[in-house]
Amino acid sequence: MLKLGVNIDHVATLRQARYRGMERGEPDPVAAALLCEQAGAHGITAHLREDRRHIIDRDIFALRKAIRTRLNFEMANAPEIVDIALAARPDIVCLVPEKREEISTEGGLDVVGHEAALRETTRRMEAAGIEVSLFVDPDPAQIEAASRVGSRFIELHTGAYAEAFHQKAERNRELQRLIAAAERAHQVGLRVNAGHGLTRENLPLLHVVPHLEELNIGHSIISRAVFVGLENAVKEILQAMEGYAGGSRPAGAA
Ligand code: PXP
Repeated sequence: MLKLGVNIDHVATLRQARYRGMERGEPDPVAAALLCEQAGAHGITAHLREDRRHIIDRDIFALRKAIRTRLNFEMANAPEIVDIALAARPDIVCLVPEKREEISTEGGLDVVGHEAALRETTRRMEAAGIEVSLFVDPDPAQIEAASRVGSRFIELHTGAYAEAFHQKAERNRELQRLIAAAERAHQVGLRVNAGHGLTRENLPLLHVVPHLEELNIGHSIISRAVFVGLENAVKEILQAMEGYAGGSRPAGAA
């Protein structure tokens, strides 16, 4: 079964818009995480950015205490954040690139260019009992490097697919890249998650991609929650994920 990790960063974005620097404020990302779990989410994802623009340190520790499913801690491979991860003990960390000027994570990690540093962080996380995933573009060279680094998972960046969704030829090209990348990852022994830009609209076609275990979805769920409530928004996405058969739907169906 395809699992859902709900990214709650944007609940914190809304809180920070009004309560930055204060001891408390609404909406509370921990309360949101608990509602997502109640609605059937299999995990909670949160990104502690170096600039603390949404999730802040206390959220990570509070989430760790409160949630009953898995905590996926998205983070840059930066010494300060690595120390926080080792102290907070999420179930898994997803290493992502981070640029201050970006609105959201724009591209995958350059694993090829940072192999030694990523291998060292992976080793430290694994030694602490924390699994590691690397957020990568659907590029075979990056996937092969991820396997050399020793991570267990990759998370395939679906942003290019999501952006191309309304142009059929380009969308199908992106789907083929995701299919080839998932196959390559599986061949080299990596487990495969995916995320970024996924919506109720573009999810059904993603079912053609094989070997997917978990999708991490944030913005579209939190946006939809404004109109239908968070639990309903999570349930709607779970519905769009139902029936995933490991990519066995013919790619031509896209
Ligand atoms: N996965 C990763 C690694 C991300 O960086 C993000 C964005 O924070 C997501 C998934 C979720 O993307 P979206 O908010 O577009 O659903």
